[in-house]
Parts: sequence; structure tokens; C-alpha cells
Amino acid sequence: MIDLEKSVTQQIESTFLKERGIELFIKRDDLLHSEISGNKWRKLKFNLDKCVHQKNAGILTFGGAYSNHLVAAAAACASVGLKSIGIVRGEELNSKSNGTLVRCEEYGMELQFISREEYSLRNERYYHEELLLESSNFLVVPEGGANYLGMIGCQELISEIDGDFDSIFVAQGTTTTSCGLALGLDEDQKMYVVPTLKGFNSFEEMNSLFNKAALSQEAIDQIENQIVVCDQYHFGGYGKCTQELLEFIHDFHTNHRIKLDPVYTGKAMYALMDLAKSGTLDNQKIIFIHTGGIQGSQSIIDKTGFNFYS
Ligand SMILES: Cc1ncc(COP(=O)(O)O)c(C=O)c1O
Repeated sequence: MIDLEKSVTQQIESTFLKERGIELFIKRDDLLHSEISGNKWRKLKFNLDKCVHQKNAGILTFGGAYSNHLVAAAAACASVGLKSIGIVRGEELNSKSNGTLVRCEEYGMELQFISREEYSLRNERYYHEELLLESSNFLVVPEGGANYLGMIGCQELISEIDGDFDSIFVAQGTTTTSCGLALGLDEDQKMYVVPTLKGFNSFEEMNSLFNKAALSQEAIDQIENQIVVCDQYHFGGYGKCTQELLEFIHDFHTNHRIKLDPVYTGKAMYALMDLAKSGTLDNQKIIFIHTGGIQGSQSIIDKTGFNFYS
């Protein structure tokens, strides 16, 4: 069983924030591990545990061409001697198509490339059964590690934060991370979630995960009262970005020597700074969760020709 050191919590020095009485700390989960970083480790930890205890051969999971989750699953399985199978969206791809897939294969992941149509079945039980005919004794973990065990792994993060705080900021994809964090909040704490998908219904998605955890409607309502959805910071939608966002990430790196990624954490930090400008966050102690994702940045640097970490 692998267990990583606790991640550090780092204060951000900024006159802009100081003038507003805001204390900002970043929980540096991005530094947990070179590949199994950020929320990936949190979401995989108990799934790996289950695999080991059940004596599964390994993990079978799903992801897109640049999936942070696939690399993390491949690396995590390799480190505990488990096998891994990655079902990848896009039959036109192969294991040399990009750096993410190359790394998956280097960690021993068996990659299977399927059509978008077939990929749309990724959450169907009968499809899992079909896949398991070929790969019996594998544990199926959903895309992005989005299951109950993933959520519980994310809840653990809250107990690692020393001292009190007013709010948490976190990027949202499948909502697994934010649902887990929400379970660990005190009643007087708030969580700001920043969905990276355009037109995403955060509460509906969170409800469905909380329901899987058998939470009562009363408990769900109480938790959701503490959540603020910041849905105007998707920058065009999942995987999309603008020059303004890339410049923001560049300036943040120049000023604080911390890398943010353009798909998730860059958007969440932009939202935080924008809300801070509007006065919404005055006099708060805020914890920003750095959920990692830096491995995906290289493809955007290559595509745009702008090295936002230079
Ligand atoms: C770097 C990064 N941050 C945030 C998220 C969003 O997390 P979740 O899907 O648990 O909402 C993801 C996706 O898993 C991610 O890769």
C-alpha cells in the first residue's frame, strides 16, 4: 500500500489581498507526487486499497486523450504491483499520440482505444460486464475516479488543514472532489466551486453522488446551503481557454512561483481573484485546493506556442 506524505499548506503573499483583509493559503496537493498528484491521489487511494484487499488483478478505468486520471491510475497501480487497463476515448488514437498516453504505457497500462459512441457507455453496468469478460478480476473505477471511495478520499483532505478557515475554493469536473470536501466542512464554513464545464448543473451532479453515499435529503440540503457555485468562469467550457486566462496563469506563476493549469486550477484561481476584487471575500481566511493537473499543460503550451510557465 502506498501512502504519501501530507501536502503542505502555503500562504500567498499579496498586497492586493492584504488590503482586503484576505488571508489566502494554497493546499499544495499538486506536490504530493509527480504523477499521482492533486485530487487524483485522493480519489484513487481507497480504490487501490479495495483492489489490494479484494485481491483484484488491477484497475480498469476510463479517460480522454489527455486524462490526468489515466496517468495517475497507471502510476499508482504500478507502484503497488497492480495491473491497469485504460479505456481511451478516440479510436483514431494510439499509445504514441501524446505525452499523456506515452506515460500511461510506460507505467504498464494496457490501453484500449474505442469510438466516442462506445465511450458513451462508460457508466453502464452491462458495458462493464462486457469489458470484464476479457479482463476478469479487475476493479472498474469510473472516469475521473468519480465514485464513493473517491469522494471519501477527498473528505480526508479537510482533516489535514490546521486551524480554522472561512472558505474553501476548488475546481469542479465530476464533483467528486468537491462532494468529498463538503462532507468535511464545519457548518459555518463555505465552499466555492468553479465548474470547468459550460452549462454544468453542479447541484444536480452533486446530488447524485451524495445519493450514492446514502445521505438523507436533509443532510444534502444542509451541505448544499454552504456551497456557492461560480459558474461564470468556464472560459468557453471544458478544455477551452482564452489568452486572458493563460496570461493570468503566467502572471500568477511569475509572482508566486506556483504553476496552475489552464483546465482546472487556473480557472478556479481566476474566479477567486475576481470575486476578491468585487469585495465578496473581504476579511476571510481562504484555503484554495491545488488539485494538480500540471501534466496536461504541456499540450496547451505546444498548441498555443505560449509557455505560460516561462
Ligand atoms: C487537476 C484537476 N482539478 C480538478 C478536477 C475536478 O475534480 P472532480 O472531477 O473531482 O470534480 C480534476 C478532474 O478530476 C482535475 O484533473
